Amino acid sequence: MSSPRAPIGIFDSGAGGLTVLKAVARRMPAEDLIYFGDTANLPYGSKSPRAVRRASAAVARFLAGKGIKALVVACNTSSAVALSDIRRAVAPIPVLGVIEPGARAAAKVACGGPVGVVATSATVASGAYPRAVKMRAPRARVISVACPLFVPLVEEGLWSGPLARGAAARYLPRFKRERVKTLILGCTHYPLLKSVIGRFLDRGTRLIDSGEETALELEALLIRRGLRRAARARGRRRFYVSDDPERFSLLARRFLGRGVGRAVLHACE
Ligand code: DGL
Repeated sequence: MSSPRAPIGIFDSGAGGLTVLKAVARRMPAEDLIYFGDTANLPYGSKSPRAVRRASAAVARFLAGKGIKALVVACNTSSAVALSDIRRAVAPIPVLGVIEPGARAAAKVACGGPVGVVATSATVASGAYPRAVKMRAPRARVISVACPLFVPLVEEGLWSGPLARGAAARYLPRFKRERVKTLILGCTHYPLLKSVIGRFLDRGTRLIDSGEETALELEALLIRRGLRRAARARGRRRFYVSDDPERFSLLARRFLGRGVGRAVLHACE
């Protein structure tokens, strides 16, 4: 039986999921958080569903072993193709992916208008976002575009400037043509490109950040189950990676705007 004092597990293929950790920490500062970046298997977004499922389940089992009270799958690709494998691997721990919260928020604000999705190739191929949006808005038209250059641009710190603008100009014109006014940022890295993406699209286009929505849902889930930790001093944060802690620390500084200390190296088989 879980206790409110237990930590929350958050995982991603690398440092990108720190955007989700940041949103969770902002909403629930008192919670202890354990983050795992599966840097040995990064990127998930260009791998087969089978490889993503296997890697994700191994990380989930590792985090379950740390006594977590809930698991957040911060990686969109993993949420898209591996959620049921992860749930099976860690049952009865509640597992929250980022697809449902993002899709729900988009369906709500789009009010029947078209919804755009930008994501990795694997997430787009899975069709998970269109399925989730259509569950809530069956008549909505959902247009998905894979943007494989966005992740390496963010990892290199190129969030603005000609290369980022060039990538936006390559991937986003269809959304303008089809008058999309609601766009889901369906990848951990894309919130960092918000201003480049926003500037390319029509004024007033709403950009849905799945991470922010997931933090809201996580809080509701913890309250429902009596697992929300009472307010106290700031919770502890621990970071694990499956490869190259130094690079993770460097990227963490970029994603969070501050250091996370040294991540602990742990191989997940
Ligand atoms: N974390 C991945 C996602 O949100 C992006 C990086 C990767 O491809 O592993 O889909």
